[in-house]
Amino acid sequence: MASAISISGLVVRRSGHPVLHGIDLEVAANAVTGLLGPSGSGKTTLLRTVVGLQRSDAGAVQVLGRPVGHARLRSEIGYMTQEPSVYGDLTVAGNLRYHAALHRRGRRAVDDGLDAVGLTALASRTVATLSNGERSRVSLGCALVAGPRLLLLDEPTVGLDPVLRRDLWELFRTLARDGVTLLVSSHVMDEADRCEHLVLLREGRVVATGTPAGLRATTGAATMEQVFLRLVEGAHEEVAQ
Ligand SMILES: Nc1ncnc2c1ncn2[C@@H]1O[C@H](COP(=O)(O)OP(=O)(O)O)[C@@H](O)[C@H]1O
Ligand SMILES: [Mg+2]
Repeated sequence: MASAISISGLVVRRSGHPVLHGIDLEVAANAVTGLLGPSGSGKTTLLRTVVGLQRSDAGAVQVLGRPVGHARLRSEIGYMTQEPSVYGDLTVAGNLRYHAALHRRGRRAVDDGLDAVGLTALASRTVATLSNGERSRVSLGCALVAGPRLLLLDEPTVGLDPVLRRDLWELFRTLARDGVTLLVSSHVMDEADRCEHLVLLREGRVVATGTPAGLRATTGAATMEQVFLRLVEGAHEEVAQ
């Protein structure tokens, strides 16, 4: 399995407190990997570290074959933050055009981005007038417009209606088939089944990695919620012994 992201011994402290406690992780290239864990488990911190926005205190992170933070990675990584980072006073298309200009992409990339996130009909609306779900799709469109090889998406489907969520997961799989690597975070365990690979995170540690079917088989659990509980309870039992 070719890795798009290789992480070893990653330790991150925020405001002096350890948040990631020695993460070892390989993220498969050209696939959709779900980064699942409860709120506060360190998903955003891990994604920020891979983007190069968060300094690490120990360990090594390689992204697309380069050390994290390398200048060449800037145009190769699309990052959608958890809070949509969009300009409220610009139109939907204006936001995408701004990102297209930053990455020297043309009109076609803007149109494709709008289409991918289902916002063509709202292209000329001012972003400040949109719902939260629509705003987060603008944010995703902005991350797509540069045509990145690696997409890091922080809870992109939270607060969206089920139809849109399904459509977005389909879009993620299409992008992966076209050669993009996606690492998508969520605190909603139901979303696990939409991913080819999973990373389960809890309290700054990787609890398990594998395919949804593989994790179900090893734990004997029916739902991902149960998989997570069994893994966490199993870890407690091991510690107690
Ligand atoms: N700026 C910060 N200063 C101190 N602690 C932080 C900061 N940001 C996040 N944390 C802590 O780091 C932990 C992981 O946070 P985060 O990565 O945002 O988790 P998640 O995205 O999974 O909800 C949490 O305990 C959170 O309180
Ligand atoms: Mg977060």
